[in-house]
Amino acid sequence: MDIIEGVEEVKLMRQAVVEADRVGFVPTMGCLHAGHEALIKRSIDQNDVTIVTIYVNPAQFDDPGDLRLYPGILQDDLALLRGLGVDIVWLPQSSELYADDYAYRVTETHVGKQLEGLCRPEHFDGVLSVVLKLLLVLRPHRVYFGEKDYQQLLLVKGMVRAFFLDVEVIGCPTVRTAEGLALSSRHARLSAEQLFLARRLHEILVRSASCDEARGDLLTAGFEVEYVSDQWGRRLAAVSVAGVRLIDNIKLTSCINETV
Ligand code: PAF
Repeated sequence: MDIIEGVEEVKLMRQAVVEADRVGFVPTMGCLHAGHEALIKRSIDQNDVTIVTIYVNPAQFDDPGDLRLYPGILQDDLALLRGLGVDIVWLPQSSELYADDYAYRVTETHVGKQLEGLCRPEHFDGVLSVVLKLLLVLRPHRVYFGEKDYQQLLLVKGMVRAFFLDVEVIGCPTVRTAEGLALSSRHARLSAEQLFLARRLHEILVRSASCDEARGDLLTAGFEVEYVSDQWGRRLAAVSVAGVRLIDNIKLTSCINETV
């Protein structure tokens, strides 16, 4: 497994990939879990070369405290990627990615201004800007995103269409624990008791007949609730447990109001 930091080095590596080889790309912020593993395994299955980036992108954190607390376990992540059979890991450096001091950025004005975009106004500009930069340097054939960050997935697909990028965006199902908890790197910040509560998020979303009912039940269970909303064929929610923000979404057909 090659581990690369510099943009020029990454471009040389990309040029060296055989023309006929398919390149799959999984962007991550590290602290890898089974959700990332599923994306990486899918890329390895579907492509000849798989590239993973690990970069905690400061531009997508509105809250400096959240950025500071974002867990980092680089050596464990690299060992996991090596074990999975990843070909190349790129560890981008902010000094290179944001040499313009983030003066140039991508803004989407519709989907990105709702739900997560209302709670975290700068977030999607940061996500789209970094994803565009990574795609332009790596020029992969396929890029993989989890459906847990459903709005992010929609926005990346939209950006790829809007800018005629030659890459297929593959959305992969959310990976959950046996109890239904959508895996997240942020769980590293929760105690066993808080995790026990976090598990109830999915169950409440699935069994509620409406967003209002889900919101009420989440509040009663002890969550702080930012939103519960039905959009894009999904029921999406953002909540906090002990100050740790969790998001999840389910297909509306899996809610009881849609199945009765
Ligand atoms: O979903 C994430 O982990 C991040 O938003 C991404 C896509 C790696 C961009 O920083």
